[in-house]
Order: sequence, then structure tokens, then C-alpha cells
Amino acid sequence: MRTSLKLGVNIDHVAALRQARGTAYPDLLAAAHCCAAGGADGITVHLREDRRHIQDADVWRLRRDDRLPLNLEMANTPEIVRFALRVRPAEVCLVPERRQELTTEGGLDAAGQVRALRPTIRRLQAAGIVVSLFVAADRRQLAAAAALGAPVVELHTGAFAGARSAAARRRTLDRLIRGAELAHALGLKVNAGHGIHLDNLDDILRMPWLDTLNIGHSLVARAMFCGLTPAVREMRRALRAYRGGM
Ligand code: PXP
Repeated sequence: MRTSLKLGVNIDHVAALRQARGTAYPDLLAAAHCCAAGGADGITVHLREDRRHIQDADVWRLRRDDRLPLNLEMANTPEIVRFALRVRPAEVCLVPERRQELTTEGGLDAAGQVRALRPTIRRLQAAGIVVSLFVAADRRQLAAAAALGAPVVELHTGAFAGARSAAARRRTLDRLIRGAELAHALGLKVNAGHGIHLDNLDDILRMPWLDTLNIGHSLVARAMFCGLTPAVREMRRALRAYRGGM
């Protein structure tokens, strides 16, 4: 089993700090460079329909900078899909989006949206973009992702991260472990993300077949105390403990 686990850093919250005041700082490209210096393998941003943090110009700048591959999280809406086809990031992760939510709360209903997703996935792939679907570790969703021809799934770790009891943590972690097994068996590359931090990482690392963890909020929060490059470096070091899960 391959054991080198990659780290994608989501820098939405750097942009959120900037948008809170409408300033030009903190600079997103500088943040991406700090992540690269800390050993990140990629940068993730979520261009939301309401543009609450990441702006179109941020995506263009990050794309034009070739230091790290860009993973663009986005909803399957005509406007955002058109934008992605122009920008052509290395990877697109299709996520569900609700205007009122604080963050991406659930996984994409790939099984219920096959007809809407199929043409989008085809168009993105035809443009040379690797498509990933952000889904719950659920048999039906994973089977739909495979049937849709998406080569990658990102398993939503939010239910595990937010579990309030030991029993719920065990149950949600078991589901993630089984989901990763199934995704791999279906020929999908397995990423995971949402709510991951240094204190719950040991459990996350029990998931088999992981390629990349996408981590944002906890890293940006940690960076307030030690700086972004050391925060990323610290997480990168922690990922070295990955032995392929279980
Ligand atoms: N992966 C996806 C698909 C997400 O939507 C998010 C949140 O934007 C993350 C990873 C990162 O989650 P967090 O900020 O909780 O680390």
C-alpha cells in the first residue's frame, strides 16, 4: 500500500480575513507561497457563488502562479462552470453549496444529480481538468461517482470531525474507513477533507488508500500563533505518520 500522503491547503480563510475589511491584504499569492515553503502539495480555494471570500481575480492569480497546482472547489452552476473552463485549474472539486451555510455542510448528492453532473464532468475533463466529487462516505454516492467517470472523490470528514460522543466518532470513522476501501475498490483516487486538525489527525490517518488531505480552517487558525509556513510544515510532518490506514 502506498503511504506518501499529500497535503492540499485551503486558503479560503486568508481571503475571509481580507474580505472582512475590504483591504488588499493579506495577499493570497503570498499565502500560497508560504504554504509551498511549508511543504504543501497543492492549494485549494472555493469560489462560492456569493464570493464571500475568494474572488475571481484570486483564482486567476493562483492559477497563473505555477508554484503549486490549484484545486478549485465549486458548485455545479453554469456561471461557475464557465469560469472554471476559462481558468483551467489542475483540478476541480465539485461541492454542494447553500448560500446560508457557514461552510460546505454536506456531501454532493452525486447519485441524485447524475443528469446535471454528467455534462459538467465531461466538459471539465475535456478541458484537461481532473474532476473530483466531494461526497459522503456512502455506498450509493461512491457508486454514482464511479459511474459518472470522476476519477477522484474527496470524502467528507465533517461528520467525523463534528461528532460529539466517542460512539459517534467511532461510527463516523468506521464509515470513512469503509468508504475509502470501497472508493479504492471502484478505482477511484481517495482524498479527504473538512474539519481536520492536528488533534483528530491520528484517527483520520486510519483511513486506507488516502492520496491527499485538504485542510484549511485549522491551519489558518494555527498560523495566527506560529505563522503559515510553520503551521503547514507542522501538518506536513504529522502526515508522515501515515502508513496506509487501518
Ligand atoms: N474540502 C472541501 C471540499 C471543503 O469544502 C473544505 C472547506 O472549504 C475543506 C476541504 C477544508 O475544510 P476545513 O477548512 O474545515 O479544513
